[in-house]
Amino acid sequence: MSKNPNYTGGERFNKLSKKDGYRSRAAYKLKQINKSHNLIKQNQNILDIGCAPGSWIQVVKELTKGKASITGIDILSMAKIEGITFLQKDLLEVNDDDLNDHFDLVLSDIAPNISGISITDSENMIELLNIEIYLINKYLVKGGSFLAKCFQGSSFDHLKEFMKENFKEVVRIKPEASRTSSKECYLLGKFKK
Ligand SMILES: C[S@@+](CC[C@H](N)C(=O)[O-])C[C@H]1O[C@@H](n2cnc3c(N)ncnc32)[C@H](O)[C@@H]1O
Repeated sequence: MSKNPNYTGGERFNKLSKKDGYRSRAAYKLKQINKSHNLIKQNQNILDIGCAPGSWIQVVKELTKGKASITGIDILSMAKIEGITFLQKDLLEVNDDDLNDHFDLVLSDIAPNISGISITDSENMIELLNIEIYLINKYLVKGGSFLAKCFQGSSFDHLKEFMKENFKEVVRIKPEASRTSSKECYLLGKFKK
């Protein structure tokens, strides 16, 4: 690693993602989480919420050798990835007609646009989390896992409370590829009750 003190972990992973052909450095967050928790397996049905530009989908395809069924949702368009189902839609407007399957694993890296006003950002994150919670209750199979981004503070507390009630194991994760200066972290719920 560079000795330049301004060369943060984030920049290191930006460079690495270009070299390795990932669409964003977020790829390394999922790779690091999966290395410790072994979530992603062949033949799973997987939902990726907030999937654009698609590096988590690249990682899932790589780890499963293409043998997983993947559905991605994002409000933004995404360059095509062969063999996946992509729904371009605001998560807040997703309804029961959009999804008609059950999932073994739900991944979410979604985050609202950050305004810098802490209370507004927390409220917006919680609004997204409430839709995720609805989808988990409805579409995640018993025994399935849910990995979701949140931010230290009220969105973390909100998600943790839901996870504690609904999963047998709950783990907080701060992957190395996530900037230390960021409040971002992930909660993993394993074995849905
Ligand atoms: C950090 S990026 C996800 C990166 C992705 N995991 C990857 O590896 O490429 C967060 C994504 O959430 C999406 N997003 C934010 N608000 C959304 C909303 N209301 N509905 C759907 N997607 C949303 C953004 O468009 C963005 O693509």
